[in-house]
Amino acid sequence: METPIAGTIVRDKIRESKLACVGLASIRELNRLVGEIEEESGQRFIRMEMGIPGLDPPEIAVDGEICALKKGVGAIYPPFDGIAYLKYEISRFVKRFLDTDVQPAHCLPTVGSMQGCFLSMMMAGRRIKGRDGILFIDPGFPVNKKQAQVLGLPRESFDVYDYRGDRLHDKLEPYLSTGRIGALMYSNPNNPAWICFTEKELGIIGELCTRYDVIALEDLAYFGMDFRQDTSRPGTPPFIPTVARYTDNYILLISSSKSFSMAGQRIGMTAISDRLFDSTGDGLATWFGSDRFGYAYIFGGMYSLSSGVCHSSQYGLAKLLEAVNDGRYNFVEAVKEYGDRARTMKRLFTENGFSLVYDRDEDQPLADGFYFTVAYPGFTGAQLVEELLYYGISAISLETTGSSRTEGVRACVSLTGKDRFEELGDRLAKFDADHQCGRRAMG
Ligand SMILES: Cc1ncc(COP(=O)(O)O)c(C=O)c1O
Repeated sequence: METPIAGTIVRDKIRESKLACVGLASIRELNRLVGEIEEESGQRFIRMEMGIPGLDPPEIAVDGEICALKKGVGAIYPPFDGIAYLKYEISRFVKRFLDTDVQPAHCLPTVGSMQGCFLSMMMAGRRIKGRDGILFIDPGFPVNKKQAQVLGLPRESFDVYDYRGDRLHDKLEPYLSTGRIGALMYSNPNNPAWICFTEKELGIIGELCTRYDVIALEDLAYFGMDFRQDTSRPGTPPFIPTVARYTDNYILLISSSKSFSMAGQRIGMTAISDRLFDSTGDGLATWFGSDRFGYAYIFGGMYSLSSGVCHSSQYGLAKLLEAVNDGRYNFVEAVKEYGDRARTMKRLFTENGFSLVYDRDEDQPLADGFYFTVAYPGFTGAQLVEELLYYGISAISLETTGSSRTEGVRACVSLTGKDRFEELGDRLAKFDADHQCGRRAMG
């Protein structure tokens, strides 16, 4: 059977990869395999397996960083918890876009929000004796679970698909009321499903976190990228939805990788609620030398992880945030392109026999953004990942994200510009035609 990518090459490379199941490989493993198939076949894939920003970093950030480097900051250790200029701008950013007050002292940069996630789980899981569990509201970013595993923290999870709206309350409460959960984590907008929690759902999460003293770890890796409402004007409603308006027991993890196209600089932001920062926990002193949460966070946690964040990146991000906060740079407008791509790419998939897996936020159609999820009749997600390789399309299985929708795959739009849409459409049409006739490339 003839496929856009020669079957012999795909099969050989899969065999050589020694992966037990290609469809269940991690993002990075798949990324490597697809690179090898591309090299051998000389053909470009429609690469949708990895969430890499596909846009240029803002000039303001680049110039800010170059300027700082030229002034010699590269020779000097930055403060663990961030330079004052950046802490001030993070606090202002949180106020202007989330309508939430967090003191600059409680805002800190991290080495990507990835490190922020690691550090926040490390602290939240050791804050109160016996309350070391992390509850993941799935589907989720697989690496976050790996982080909890590396930290030795017990993990629990459930797929939120069937528990949207009011139903979330009754699903969540039994986990939190056990007394073994130190923190719950979710991303909003969600990687991989791009669901966005409604204000009602965030209210439920917030209220239960307060009632059971569980920290909400809100991963805002795709900050401001729900394009259905215009949240791009600083200090003006509507504000970006956040649990911080419903509880004072939160840590916000904000990435600059996607919203600001700064993934390579590995700088993210953490904002710890004022109350939590100043609170104490009976589990902290043994691990971090202090029972004060904020102090332990910085002088026990941050110190031992990386002792701060690249000095010049901090200046680059601070300069950008200043422009964003002042309304001189509209970061949402700069990344709206992803929403436009998703709209067209979803159409190409659904016109060719695929269906959307996660498709609603309560009664609203899902937003178009960085990711979407699709399924094709007769395939599990893992099988679909493998079969799509023969058609020059790469994605990851939803099964690897804790989703109970094992029939689906996650597609990321970031590396597929408009110039590739025709090719994507052709490959999907061929896929559909072949499978309507009952042919399968993977055998
Ligand atoms: C949900 C989620 N959290 C965290 C991250 C990591 O962000 P950063 O690049 O800031 O470390 C990502 C990146 O893909 C993500 O999707």
